[in-house]
Amino acid sequence: MQATTTTVPLLDLNAQYAPIVEPVLGAIAKVFASKQFILGPQVASFESKVKEYLRVPYALGVSSGTDAILLALMAMGIGAGDEVIVPTFTFFATAGCVARVGATPVFVDIDPETFNMDPKSVEAAITEKTKAIMPVHLFGQMADMPAIMAIAERHNIWVIEDASQSIGCYYELPGDPTQHWSGAVGDVACFSFFPSKNLGCIGDGGLVTTRHPELAEKMQLMRNHGAKERYYHDEVGGNFRLDSIQAAVLEVKLPYLEEQHQARQAHGEFYTQALQDVVRTPIVRPGYRMIYNQYTLRTSQRAELQHYLNSRQIGNAIYYPLCLHEQACFAQLGYQKGQFPHAEQAAQEVLSIPVYAELTDGQRETVALSIREFFGH
Ligand SMILES: Cc1ncc(COP(=O)(O)O)c(C=O)c1O
Repeated sequence: MQATTTTVPLLDLNAQYAPIVEPVLGAIAKVFASKQFILGPQVASFESKVKEYLRVPYALGVSSGTDAILLALMAMGIGAGDEVIVPTFTFFATAGCVARVGATPVFVDIDPETFNMDPKSVEAAITEKTKAIMPVHLFGQMADMPAIMAIAERHNIWVIEDASQSIGCYYELPGDPTQHWSGAVGDVACFSFFPSKNLGCIGDGGLVTTRHPELAEKMQLMRNHGAKERYYHDEVGGNFRLDSIQAAVLEVKLPYLEEQHQARQAHGEFYTQALQDVVRTPIVRPGYRMIYNQYTLRTSQRAELQHYLNSRQIGNAIYYPLCLHEQACFAQLGYQKGQFPHAEQAAQEVLSIPVYAELTDGQRETVALSIREFFGH
């Protein structure tokens, strides 16, 4: 069988929205008619539904995933003189927010099998200044939370989950059917509703979740300039509010999410079957529910493969080409190239291919066959 020359985008928002155009436009019209554009009943309604889905006691809509992280750090009182341990292989916001509150991001290496923060490196990075650990559940698989939570408990420090890419993911431990959901394990978790996320809105949006009532109250206050009563400020917060229109769209999309997760999982399993003899395919840890926000393969011939896929108009992207400890803006922290070999090697080898829920069987075959053809199969 020959690969066809069908174009396959990396993400197809037209296909995603086509079946729900009417309810989405209806929900937007309702917000417009209400003229309650900021917070209000629509945001509260979405929060109560998403909180149920995520199995968390408290959930607050915020302006983006980045602002969710910033708000969490601010509410925990993390700032100058404090250290927060973050993986070096992640999206910039994870560490950028730590720097923005005046604290120091302390980078650690990843587990080369899962791309997630390596707990052994975390343990080695703890100092008396460490205030929090921020695991990122990258590409749709949760980090090794049992190990990370044990370290945090031992040292009495916070855990902030960067769950931007992991809505709906969970893990089960051997012999125990309890599902430990992404966003319900750490002290606070941060989600992004950027349009390319598994639950995306039509602009920027995010969510913080927590199991601590006092942190929930503080974050609720701080997302609105720290004011319980208008113009009377108990805390220095910010404008971290979620728009009502975004909440309305998210509420329409939430009931479809499980079905979309299953489609992503099926695409991922198909790719792994089809490609495991030609590239390094993602490894799913036993007991972990992996919901591919990205299907990220690894190859030492990445540049050539990328060129080949581009020539066939098959969407692909590199998440992420440069580790955070090597970024120009963190040069003053004094990290060296070669310090985090697993993360640096991943940055050289990773390539993500289309895995969106609406991908057709024909499209995913085209992607897989093209990759196999590149490798001479
Ligand atoms: C791991 C990670 N952290 C943080 C963010 C920031 O989210 P946002 O783009 O909604 O600010 C993203 C998404 O872009 C992300 O993937």
